[in-house]
Amino acid sequence: MTSAPARRHAIDLDDFSGDEIEALLETAESMKEVLAREIKQVPALRGRNVVNMFYEESTRTRISFELAARALSANIVNFTARGSSVEKGESLVDTVRTLQALGADIVVMRHSQAGAPYLAAQHFRGSVINAGDGRHAHPTQALLDLFTIRERLGQVRGVQVVIVGDIVHSRVARSNLWGLTRMGAHVTLCAPPTLLGPAAYWTATWPEVRVCHRFDEALAGADVVMALRLQKERQQAGLLPSLREYTRRYGLTPERLERLGERTLIMHPGPMNEGVEIAPEAVVAPNAVIEAQVTNGVAVRMALLYRLAG
Ligand code: NCD
Repeated sequence: MTSAPARRHAIDLDDFSGDEIEALLETAESMKEVLAREIKQVPALRGRNVVNMFYEESTRTRISFELAARALSANIVNFTARGSSVEKGESLVDTVRTLQALGADIVVMRHSQAGAPYLAAQHFRGSVINAGDGRHAHPTQALLDLFTIRERLGQVRGVQVVIVGDIVHSRVARSNLWGLTRMGAHVTLCAPPTLLGPAAYWTATWPEVRVCHRFDEALAGADVVMALRLQKERQQAGLLPSLREYTRRYGLTPERLERLGERTLIMHPGPMNEGVEIAPEAVVAPNAVIEAQVTNGVAVRMALLYRLAG
């Protein structure tokens, strides 16, 4: 195992080397062993204060960070903008400074504004973890996706991954692009042009990435299909002719599921629009690892908290 230099924040995977990701995934394996024990707790972060700062709704990411912090024996406090002084107009920077004065060591932040965790990191002496900011990044989701691929397929290098759906709005896709390409996977992005965003941007940033508008073509040879949620809340009207048309062309339908075979992993970061981007049959297929992604999220977040606290 190569030791990576100390890290203070985790804003996106763009500044993570392959060695650092590898080391984190190895630590996450040990954390997963801890979580399989009867007593799912180690004292690694005893006496540390972690604050979950969620300005945007979340189920799995927030609870996952909470369970991860508790499994490491940290104190965890959940902050939501609602009911806080944010409603009196307190700014993000003042809020972060307040948390610092209260003794927070690590802030986990989700925000609808891209860049918010970066701004917070500039005004906070501890560590900031990005739990999803606007369309920008969601590094822990990408790490848990990498962990799940590696666990199921033995490695990430050389694996063919198709990311399909609402790519233009997806922070999950962006962070996965950094992580997957750095770990040597081959990535195909598949979406209708209106949900892809500028193709030239993708291929300029990640020259090894393939862009494809036909899902059936993209699926040939895929080892992993990662379906993305159609983000209705981030869409202006007019990006899609109809949901039915979208499902027909870009949905993981029962017909496509059959053609995929049993070897190709089916992934989805959740929450899902079942029957839109993914058929209910695909969610429960033997090769679906959607629940495993959620489970692995706790171990991966433990590994990251541990690394930042170390
Ligand atoms: C994603 C998110 O919030 O970015 N969900 C998650 O964290 N697992 C994806 C989404 O909202 O579609």
